[in-house]
Amino acid sequence: MENQVFVMDHPLIQHKLTFLRDKNTGSKEFRELVGEIAMLMCYEATRDLPLQEVHIETPMGEATTKVIAGRKLAFVPILRAGLGMVEGVLEMVPAAKVGHIGLYRDHKTLQPVEYYNKLPQDITERDVIVLDPMLATGGSAIDAISIVKRSNPKSIKFMCIIAAPEGVKALSEAHPDVQIYCAAVDDHLNEIGYIVPGLGDAGDRIFGTL
Ligand code: PRP
Ligand code: URA
Repeated sequence: MENQVFVMDHPLIQHKLTFLRDKNTGSKEFRELVGEIAMLMCYEATRDLPLQEVHIETPMGEATTKVIAGRKLAFVPILRAGLGMVEGVLEMVPAAKVGHIGLYRDHKTLQPVEYYNKLPQDITERDVIVLDPMLATGGSAIDAISIVKRSNPKSIKFMCIIAAPEGVKALSEAHPDVQIYCAAVDDHLNEIGYIVPGLGDAGDRIFGTL
């Protein structure tokens, strides 16, 4: 399958993204916005879930209607910042399981370092959406997806809020089968691997560790 990038330009997402980027937005509001944007993005990212027909009775009579066709989802946030997206996506898909992959970027080398990995046992039966608000060099997403792929899930998507063109290119080349969902593709990475204009350090802004 060809790699595809979906930029979600829905007005509600773009509106919230403006406040997320603003340096005057404090941690409480930042966390809420990350959750809300993740919820809205999840709505779009699950648009292709297959449906099946069921027969039910309404108070007025019989009806043939649709339910999601037995597909199971798992969300896999990349720690730490990906955690900020979990509550929002679970609002949309409460039955999903949540795995965790712990990675941080070494600030000198910009290379991701793995420190935690716990995925649902039945992951082979699940479609996985990997979550991280930021796709910068792409190193963290590439490694996290490689780790998830070793467990053989049914499919993998990657959902971030802001992507850099460099990260989109690197991730597309490393994992051409993984669709990328984001709210914006920004201008460029600066010399220390931060997205410009971006929003700064997502993990620090979510958890107030600036
Ligand atoms: C940030 C971000 C991504 C990564 C993106 O995490 O949340 O995981 O950097 O950069 P990359 O595309 O160049 O790999 P960070 O390493 O700051 O860790 P944190 O989530 O614990 O703050
Ligand atoms: N990680 C972040 O949190 N922000 C960036 O701009 C790049 C990587």
